[in-house]
Amino acid sequence: MPSTTGSALTGVGLGLRWEFLDEVLDLLDTLDDNAALPVPFFELSPENYMRRGGYFPAAIERVRERCAILTHGLTLSVGGLDPLDDGYLRELGHFLGRLEPPFHSDHLCFSGVDGRFLHDLLPLPLTSAAAAHAAARIREAEDRLERPMAIENITYYLAPGRASLDEADFLAEVLERAGCGLLLDVNNLYVNARNHGVDPVALLEKIPPGRVVEMHVAGHEWRDDAELLIDTHGAPVIEPVLDLLARAVARTGPVPVVLERDNDVPPLEALLAERAEVDAAYRRGLAAREARA
Ligand SMILES: [Fe+2]
Repeated sequence: MPSTTGSALTGVGLGLRWEFLDEVLDLLDTLDDNAALPVPFFELSPENYMRRGGYFPAAIERVRERCAILTHGLTLSVGGLDPLDDGYLRELGHFLGRLEPPFHSDHLCFSGVDGRFLHDLLPLPLTSAAAAHAAARIREAEDRLERPMAIENITYYLAPGRASLDEADFLAEVLERAGCGLLLDVNNLYVNARNHGVDPVALLEKIPPGRVVEMHVAGHEWRDDAELLIDTHGAPVIEPVLDLLARAVARTGPVPVVLERDNDVPPLEALLAERAEVDAAYRRGLAAREARA
């Protein structure tokens, strides 16, 4: 049974997207072999690259030669009731075998029912039974992929069923039962706290810091029609989320942090400028941790 340990990767990386993959390759072409890259690592979703020939495997190989890569899956459906997908796990295992990330992550959600896949990250009931079910499947996925996993807190707009736990206790129970790492999405935590009338700092303080092996930040948007914050990954990260990131890093110490952008993706240069702002918040968090020690 693999166990999740922290990786040697730290600092602020970028989610690698098709939209700027060519720009990354051009950048690599212009840099000397020993020159420092403007990001310590990239994170990519295997689903965006598996089953693709030609350009994509070659591009990923070129990035990997110069830069560490973390992997973040989209379709494991750890909370689902259908058996884990054998074909998917087999292909994913091969893909991860080529990249050798320190761990693989996916979301604490379900994505399908009765063999129908919904391409969405749907929330689980906040109960001990759902936590036990998801934890058993995380362990199964770790065994079948033969590598440690980290699980990400998702955004949810409606809580299904009758909750017997709050979000932080539910997460803690899954992590404890699965013995896995937490990919703490700080933006998701903020969006959920605001939408469900909880103080984001109080929610953060209930998250077990020793389980956090990676963090995400992203942008969200307010929708008047729904009267909700929606996790769009289509806007810059807002200042309160950066402040929350700094608080989180002050609790966890150095871990890899990924800036995610999936909609209205700007040119690489703009993303690198935003990455620098996230990095400043990350460093603020580390400085606060040191001052406290
Ligand atoms: Fe995320």
